[in-house]
Amino acid sequence: MPQGIDNLANLAIERPDLEGLRDLLVTLPESLLALGACAVFDSAGRTRRVLFESQGLSVVLCGWLPGQRSEPHDHGGSLCALRVLRGVATEARYEITQDGRAREVERDDYLPGSVLACDGSDVHALINDRGSSEPLVTLHLYRPTPLMTEYDLVPEEAP
Ligand SMILES: [Fe+2]
Repeated sequence: MPQGIDNLANLAIERPDLEGLRDLLVTLPESLLALGACAVFDSAGRTRRVLFESQGLSVVLCGWLPGQRSEPHDHGGSLCALRVLRGVATEARYEITQDGRAREVERDDYLPGSVLACDGSDVHALINDRGSSEPLVTLHLYRPTPLMTEYDLVPEEAP
């Protein structure tokens, strides 16, 4: 495990706003970029490894093989910022229908080095496209540790 997680976490604890979390990931030190080589992968689904969890802050490393994705979810009011360390992340964003299902409204691709920041009420999903040629690794900062709600897709969009 690369050095510097505690340092990153302490800086994040001092920067409680979304812009602060985003800035920390934009200026991530070289030592932590090496986390891109530290993720593990599982053919059963996306992996999620908690690197730090204290004082209302979570640092999580996720590994995604091509074709793996999260369900549409919100972050229960928590702030979330993430950086793409390896591969290409597709983020789909959703609106919630009257019957409580997720309908995709837009999606974008993010190359390594990209940083995404989401407000707690945003509903989104991360995807490593099944046509992708390489695994995806993402590093997430959450504040506080989120209680996520997942949403079913509207039927015509279910894969
Ligand atoms: Fe999320």
